[in-house]
Amino acid sequence: MIAIACDHGGYELKKQIIEHLADLGVAYEDFGCGAGERVDYPIYAEKVARAVVAGECDRGILICGTGIGMSIAANKIPGIRAALCADCYSAEMTRLHNDANILCLGGRTLGGELAKRIVDTYLAASFSEAEHHIRRLDMIKELEK
Ligand code: RB5
Repeated sequence: MIAIACDHGGYELKKQIIEHLADLGVAYEDFGCGAGERVDYPIYAEKVARAVVAGECDRGILICGTGIGMSIAANKIPGIRAALCADCYSAEMTRLHNDANILCLGGRTLGGELAKRIVDTYLAASFSEAEHHIRRLDMIKELEK
């Protein structure tokens, strides 16, 4: 189950990504915002981050104008590793190396087709489980204390 949310800067791209997930048969839960709303992105970053940390959703996708605000906010929640990606290489590497559990996208910086490819890449890739990457993620966990 993928948790997805956006602010007004990410709404149009979220619509395209949701349609894409539905085409792929990937289950998702839409945490808002709705059409025509002007909202504060930290509220939506928190909704998705909490759903992921609680295990209610496996991973998340957050979209704002640049993806930056969503990534900053989501990364404040312990256990979240949110990665802002604007290319497929980063989307793959952030799964392999960082075990990123939230993908952030910029609705005003990415075209829909590229964003869909980034989502596909992110969803297809898995954490490498390499000892050195596990050690680094443990070090990040220590920073949360
Ligand atoms: C909203 O105008 C915009 O600031 C927001 O979508 C996002 O880009 C923040 O990082």
